[in-house]
Amino acid sequence: MHAEGSTILVTGGAGYIGTQVALELAEHGYRVVVVDDLSNGRLLPVHQRFRVVVGDVRERELLMEVMASAGVVAVVHMAASISVPESVADPLGYYDNNVGGTLALLEACAATGVKAVVFSSTAAVYGDVRTSPVDEEAPVAPANPYGASKAMGERMLMDAAAAGGPRYGILRYFNVAGADPALRCGPTAPEAHHLIRVACRVALGLEARLRIFGTDWPTRDGTGVRDYIHVADLAEVHRLLLEHLLAGGDSILLNCGYGRGFSVREVVAAVERVVGRPLPVEEAPRRPGDVAELVAATRRLTERFAWRPRHADLATIVRHALLWEAQLAQVPPPAGVKPAACG
Ligand code: UD1
Repeated sequence: MHAEGSTILVTGGAGYIGTQVALELAEHGYRVVVVDDLSNGRLLPVHQRFRVVVGDVRERELLMEVMASAGVVAVVHMAASISVPESVADPLGYYDNNVGGTLALLEACAATGVKAVVFSSTAAVYGDVRTSPVDEEAPVAPANPYGASKAMGERMLMDAAAAGGPRYGILRYFNVAGADPALRCGPTAPEAHHLIRVACRVALGLEARLRIFGTDWPTRDGTGVRDYIHVADLAEVHRLLLEHLLAGGDSILLNCGYGRGFSVREVVAAVERVVGRPLPVEEAPRRPGDVAELVAATRRLTERFAWRPRHADLATIVRHALLWEAQLAQVPPPAGVKPAACG
C-alpha cells in the first residue's frame, strides 16, 4: 500500500502531542482527520490543515462514520485523560474515558476494516520499577489508575490483534516535553502540571513558584528522576511506526525516551541556565501516584527504526518550551532566549 495520500485518523489530535503528530503526518503527505472533544486541547491555526470532528472517542457510531466517510486506513489513538494525580482522585472517570474510548475505537476498527492502530501508552504502566533503565520486557505493574487504564488499553489491542483485529504499535511514552520547534503548537491546557511546563511558567513570571514534590526519593539528589523526550522527536516515532504498519509490518511495543534521566533539581538547574537567573522553588511533600525513577531502555526503538532523535538535549527542550509558553501567554520571552537559538 502507498502510504502517502492515505487518510489517518488521529484521536486526540487537538491535544499537545496529538497536534504535533498530526502535523508530522501532514508534512509527510498523509491526509489527517482529527476526532477530539476539546476537553484538554484547543484548536490552533495549524488545525486548519486537517478535517476536525469535535466529538467523544467513546462514541463508536461517530468513529465509524468518520472512518467510513474519510476512508481511514489507520488510526493513531491518543485521546485519553492523562493526569496521574487526577486519576488517583477519579479512578472510575479514568477507566471510563481511557478503557471505554479504546474499546469503542477497536469496535469501530472491526466494523470498518481498519487494520493498523498506533496507541499512546505510557511508562506509567511499569509502576515503581526496581531496574533503571527499564525495558519493554519489564513487568506491567502500574502504580496509579492512569497507568492501569493504559495497561488495559494495551491488553485490549493485543487480544483484538490475536483474534484478527488491527496490527498495533504501542508506544510507551516517558516524559514528553518541549514544543514544536517552529512554535506552531505546544501544550495549551490552562493548568500546567508537568514539570518542564511549570518550571517555564515560573521562569516567565506566570506562576509564583515551583514546588518540588518530594526530596526523600531514593534517587541521587532525593528528587524524582525522569526521561524527558522532545515532543517533535516523539511525533517522528509515530510516523515511522505507522509507516511500518502500513507496509505490512508486525505488531510492536516500544519505549519512547532517550535513555537518560534528569532529577527535578537538574531540570530546575537547566531552566535556570537557559534564563540566566534562579527560579523560586519550594520543597513540598511527595505527590500521590508518583514513583522515584523512570528511564527508558531504548535499544528496541533505536534498532528497529534506526531512529536518531533531533532534539535530544535538555536545554533545547527547555528553550522550545519557554518560547511556546511566552507565545501562548503573550508575554516577552526571557532576554537571550530567541527563536534563532532553537535547534
Ligand atoms: C506522568 C506519567 C507519565 C505520563 C504523564 C502524562 C508516571 C510515573 N508518569 O508523568 O507516564 O506520560 O504523567 O501526564 O506516572 N514535579 C515536581 N513539581 C511539579 C511537577 C512535577 O516536583 O510542579 C516532579 C514530579 O513529582 C516528578 C517529575 O517532576 O518527579 C515529573 O513530573 P511530571 O512532569 O508531572 O510527569 P510524571 O508524573 O512523571
